[in-house]
Amino acid sequence: MDRVFIAGGCPLRGRVRVSGSKNATLPIMAACLLTSGVSTLREVPRIKDVLVMQDVLEVLGARLEWRENDLVVDTSPVGSSTVPEDLMRSMRASNLVLGALLGRFGQATISYPGGCNIGSRPMDLHMKGCRALGVRFFERFGLIKAHAPVLSGAEIHLDQPSVGATENIMMAAVSAKGTTVIRNAAKEPEIVDLQNFLAKMGARIQGAGTDTVRIEGVTALYPADHAVIPDRIESGTHMLAAAITGGDVLVENVIPEHAAALIAKLREAGLVIEVADSSVRVAGNGRLAPVSIKTLPYPGFPTDLQPQMTALLCRAQGTSVITETVFENRMKHVGELRRLGAHIKVEGQSAIVRGPAQLSGAIVEASDLRAGAALVLAGLASENGTVVENAEHLDRGYERLEEKYRQLGARISRSIER
Ligand code: UD1
Repeated sequence: MDRVFIAGGCPLRGRVRVSGSKNATLPIMAACLLTSGVSTLREVPRIKDVLVMQDVLEVLGARLEWRENDLVVDTSPVGSSTVPEDLMRSMRASNLVLGALLGRFGQATISYPGGCNIGSRPMDLHMKGCRALGVRFFERFGLIKAHAPVLSGAEIHLDQPSVGATENIMMAAVSAKGTTVIRNAAKEPEIVDLQNFLAKMGARIQGAGTDTVRIEGVTALYPADHAVIPDRIESGTHMLAAAITGGDVLVENVIPEHAAALIAKLREAGLVIEVADSSVRVAGNGRLAPVSIKTLPYPGFPTDLQPQMTALLCRAQGTSVITETVFENRMKHVGELRRLGAHIKVEGQSAIVRGPAQLSGAIVEASDLRAGAALVLAGLASENGTVVENAEHLDRGYERLEEKYRQLGARISRSIER
């Protein structure tokens, strides 16, 4: 188990550069499987989830090589379309290879990624969309065998705008015969980045970023060179770290439009925000007003920043209400924040936060990636020392988090016990 130690009580000051987006990188790595050849991905974060996706591609036969933050992906040796169960279980996003394998080989064998700490996260929408394209699924002993001798374009209406289902259907549809239209598609910036990569590969695709994505199948796709977008959840976490410590931080390598929902809420809470072309400065001004938030698909407030925002609102002068509508079990950080002195009550899918709480260090446990980030932020704002246990969750999605915060003046370190 990894433990992160935080001395606390130290406003973060300085500048920090955001790494490439985890959620853009993962589907783009999968998309490399659509053709044979060498693609180069740039600005790739070296984080655990990306390394698991590397394992998935390698087990299928691909060769991957890192050059700093460039990832060279050679898919010419890929011969298998079966992902072993242990890899499927170690990361939910490994299901993103389904669409690409169907596009390349007309078949894929995967398994259910299993439950998850934040909710049940089924795959019905992925499968429903693929079925419409002509895919037949056979399920036995937890394995899902997908088979489609021919993929044919179709009109698909998603029951809800699932990010992963939209991406999987896009990847299967680029090599289908005819036109596919995905309605009620997810609109996340990572889907636009996937569309941009697929277009570089030769796909005919448009509409990502709106609720309708149109794809005309093509007969040939080619390897491509692509720099992934900056990680909007990482930048949001740093903005919230500046805010909770009452510091002054310039967060660089940001697409401010992607952070609009968070920026609006931070302004409402009274923080000083300066937005430039590719950076956002966040500074405290001594007082924090309570605000209410509701998580929603993009462009609404992102569920992946809800735990960190909850940590911030513990410090606000008054009552805030946080409502989680995307995942049914994403309040696990609340009990741990209480250990640090927060006054929070959970009612159904809402957390009612009564502030301001004087946070005081304790031993707490990270249940997942973003819950872990919330506890680090609360630790930075606490009196005395905080220990965050199971801190290895942070490595799934943050590249060098402690190092970045040390450069901003935090006293934070890690011990590793294997
Ligand atoms: C992606 C992100 C994750 C983020 C989430 C929501 C990646 C790798 N991960 O996850 O960080 O928290 O979007 O912004 O990009 N659902 C179904 N059936 C399905 C698929 C989804 O009911 O077949 C439900 C889920 O249970 C959830 C909701 O749809 O309640 C949204 O999930 P989805 O958008 O699919 O999230 P992911 O793509 O898994």
